[in-house]
Amino acid sequence: MPDTDNGTPAPADSNLLRLLLEIGRFFNSSLDFPEVVKMVMDKVIEVLKAERGCLFLLNEQGEPKMVGARGMDKTVIETEDFSFSRSIVRQVIDTREPILSSNAMADGRFSSIQTVAMHNIRSIMAVPILFHDQIRGLVYVDNRLRAGIFREENLELLNAIAVQAAGAIENARLYNMKKEIILVLANAIEAKDEYTRGHVERVCSFCLAIARELNMTSEDIRDLEVCSFLHDVGKIGVPDAVLQKPGKLDNDEREKMERHAEMGEHLVKPIDVPLRIKQSIRQHQERWDGKGYPDGLAGEAIHLFARIISVADTWDAMTSDRPYRKALPRQVAVDELRKNAGTQLDPLVVEAFLRAIERGEESVPVTVSLGL
Ligand SMILES: [Fe+2]
Repeated sequence: MPDTDNGTPAPADSNLLRLLLEIGRFFNSSLDFPEVVKMVMDKVIEVLKAERGCLFLLNEQGEPKMVGARGMDKTVIETEDFSFSRSIVRQVIDTREPILSSNAMADGRFSSIQTVAMHNIRSIMAVPILFHDQIRGLVYVDNRLRAGIFREENLELLNAIAVQAAGAIENARLYNMKKEIILVLANAIEAKDEYTRGHVERVCSFCLAIARELNMTSEDIRDLEVCSFLHDVGKIGVPDAVLQKPGKLDNDEREKMERHAEMGEHLVKPIDVPLRIKQSIRQHQERWDGKGYPDGLAGEAIHLFARIISVADTWDAMTSDRPYRKALPRQVAVDELRKNAGTQLDPLVVEAFLRAIERGEESVPVTVSLGL
């Protein structure tokens, strides 16, 4: 990589191509929005050797909202210290053109701005993030003390990174939207029964605690999360009188209730989710000892997702109030879970969950908002 005299090194063409491919692969390795933002900022700072940087995305009102930063905190951005940079943000959004200044203090466009002199801001770059020809946000970097840090080729590189970032951010945003819609659907079904309010989010956070304890991959965790949201979707086909009955169900009612597992699988069959999610929705009421439904599967013939949901579901049923009984005290629920390990529940999953709750990790709230 040839080095320019005193600025940021500019990679040679073949290196540049390799670097961009690597950055693209890196950005697209996650669908988790905060993680993607972090990756983008890490790469921007690393590749451009910038002192500070931040990423803005437009919210629903079209206003720029900072979603990630390096070298500056939120208070700096909200105070006068950042007012100069804020005007640059506005300019990039309005014109959709990148900005480069290798010495802002001597640059006629910026030198009259008091903050430039006050904070010695010298090197600045800002490029728009465009997706499908729409402005979605921008990346800003600066160096307060050194002039000549950024050159035309660095601006091109930042532009190329912004193109890669736009695709990865959009993917994460769409994935998040899918999750939000699924959660709305799950909550709508749950709303039919006020005693199970919050059940979906709680079961999801218990599942994720188990998944982390079992060192599952981020892809597995992503699918498990969707599966936990959808596991009871088949309850939409269960009559309200059965779903909301406070007492014990008779045989006929039980049969109707038990159909929800198959019904759930049937409902998700046409949608584009991995097969293991569909299978686990069907299997989430199976038991480790083979006495569950609908297929009487046992042990590891039941998908791990379904075995995890089963533990999470059982824990939530025991630790939340029901119309016919109060929530069990925590220790009683722990003992009960242990008692059911090896019969109803997968013992390894139970142990993983108990380790997680010992550290209080089961109550991490589930967030699906991008915070824009
Ligand atoms: Fe269920």
